[in-house]
Amino acid sequence: MSSEARRASEGIRIAVLASGSGTNLQAIIDACRSGFIPGRVSVVISDRKEAFALERARRAGIKAIFLDPKNYASRQEFDRAMADIIARHECDLVAMAGYMRLLSPEFIRDHYLRVMNIHPALCPSFPGMHAIRDALAYGVKVTGVTVHFADEGTDTGPVILQYPVFVRDGDTEDTLAERVHAVEHKLYPLAIKLFAEGKLRCEGRLVRILDPVWETIIERGELTW
Ligand code: GRF
Repeated sequence: MSSEARRASEGIRIAVLASGSGTNLQAIIDACRSGFIPGRVSVVISDRKEAFALERARRAGIKAIFLDPKNYASRQEFDRAMADIIARHECDLVAMAGYMRLLSPEFIRDHYLRVMNIHPALCPSFPGMHAIRDALAYGVKVTGVTVHFADEGTDTGPVILQYPVFVRDGDTEDTLAERVHAVEHKLYPLAIKLFAEGKLRCEGRLVRILDPVWETIIERGELTW
């Protein structure tokens, strides 16, 4: 069966890369299970043995693989091992979900527009590891969530979806993070659903959304599903 025919009959296969607790992974798994995303998570790969994301995968009956960076001489070699696993599982999409390593230029080149990332801020603001803390420290009134295709930079690739989160007076990193994460858990599955349905068209940096859902969200001002 060709990969197009397989995608049409059983949906996409997703590889998730995660280093941490994996709440976004869980949202993606749940969205596949409910049929919101036409597809399934085929493999979860982590660079941290103790990542709870691996445990979530196991509990869901999904192949969970720990790759120890210590066993690889370079980022390139590590990513090559990862690429082998992804190819073996015939994955159509790689979703980074709290994955704390930069991807090598080779990996990006070979998988361009097939790797997504989620970032807890409105790119290009506050790239890097502490986006929520940085937004709060800067004093912005609005921050949010970005899902984007990965490129060689840190949180710099073509934007797929963004959604705002207002900063409240008295917010702490924890209270703001709670609202940001709640948005993440809706926005990432939506971006993956649109990808799976072939409704994202990339024109240079601009990602067009070929589905009325985006207009509806803008008009209503809420994530309505
Ligand atoms: C999320 O805030 C995501 O935006 C960022 O890392 C965090 C991962 O959280 N890239 P989790 O592991 O999915 O709970």
